[in-house]
Amino acid sequence: METQGDRDQQKEPRKAPLARMFGLAVSVIVLALSMGTGVSACAGAGGDERANDDPQGVYDGQEEEGALEPSETTSAALNGTVSTDPNLKIAFIGDTGTGSSFTSVLNLVLSEGAAAVVVNGDMSYSANPTTWWNQVESVLGTTFPVFISRGNHDDSSWSGYLPKAANHLGGATRVAGAHDANYKTTFRGLVLVTAKKGDNGATHITPFLDTDTHIWKICQWHQNQAAMQVGGKGDEMGWDVYETCRKQGAIIQTGHEHSYERTRTLTNMTSQTVDPTCNGAGVLCVGGDGTNGRTFVTVAGLGGNSIRTQTRCTPTTFPYGCSNTWGFIYTSNQSANYGAQFITFNVGGNPKAATGYFKTISGTTAETFSITHD
Ligand SMILES: [Fe+2]
Repeated sequence: METQGDRDQQKEPRKAPLARMFGLAVSVIVLALSMGTGVSACAGAGGDERANDDPQGVYDGQEEEGALEPSETTSAALNGTVSTDPNLKIAFIGDTGTGSSFTSVLNLVLSEGAAAVVVNGDMSYSANPTTWWNQVESVLGTTFPVFISRGNHDDSSWSGYLPKAANHLGGATRVAGAHDANYKTTFRGLVLVTAKKGDNGATHITPFLDTDTHIWKICQWHQNQAAMQVGGKGDEMGWDVYETCRKQGAIIQTGHEHSYERTRTLTNMTSQTVDPTCNGAGVLCVGGDGTNGRTFVTVAGLGGNSIRTQTRCTPTTFPYGCSNTWGFIYTSNQSANYGAQFITFNVGGNPKAATGYFKTISGTTAETFSITHD
């Protein structure tokens, strides 16, 4: 079978000499960094026993010192070489509305020290971009990085969100896609691909990720598949976009259902297959080469509009139902409050380590988790 490495080799002759020299220099730097921090392959193929021994705990991302094995350098090449800024903290929210709870969530984003907020759709529920942006700017100011996606309640007013969105890039580079709600945003080394309902992997996602050399990649959209949320939402996005992002090792961020839930590491989205080599509830592994990959899905729907019940994957207590698909579920059944998920990338001096948590506007840290990139 053709591997990413094969494809890279085939592409190599087309590169200009300067590009080849640059690529070599980057490889050397990354190898040196990796050796310095003792990065190894993630828990793939049973590589990290501690991850499975500590299903609820938070793995600190530290590995033993030692030279890289050949397979580890190959893994690094397949999964990107450029990390984010150290300790880059990003907030993820969705389904905000324009009430006082959303203001509290915005204040939480600020007080937690996030460098940017990613909004997974359904901003205003009255098709009022002006009111929504005024509320955002009253807390975060006029230039704070805010990266939005188009939800169903944004459909009729979407064009009204875009002028202000351009003021809130925070120095990120933005590449346009096939329509005005499809784009790639690169912010301090974090890659975010935004899509909407009706999009597909080949047209709206793969072109942005297939040759990208960044380690940390995120796919962002609003709607779900029924099995990728724990409330009453149906099959709306289709599996193709989920599987495409998994194969790229991209973290999947969604909204739409008004609760917070996060899967374990999945090696197949359609069948919700939990990775047996990285099955901890709070210890996640991501990575992919475009053909094979693993990642997890978040529904961040507690941005301020309402809080709904858990109707799928009962019981409502850990480890829940649905064959251990879920690492954490936070709905009105678990007395959830509004809040945000925060993920900090490139932590502990390890470019391939990240940590995350969900915090509420009342100050409760509902869950913590760690992520290691292959
Ligand atoms: Fe929605």
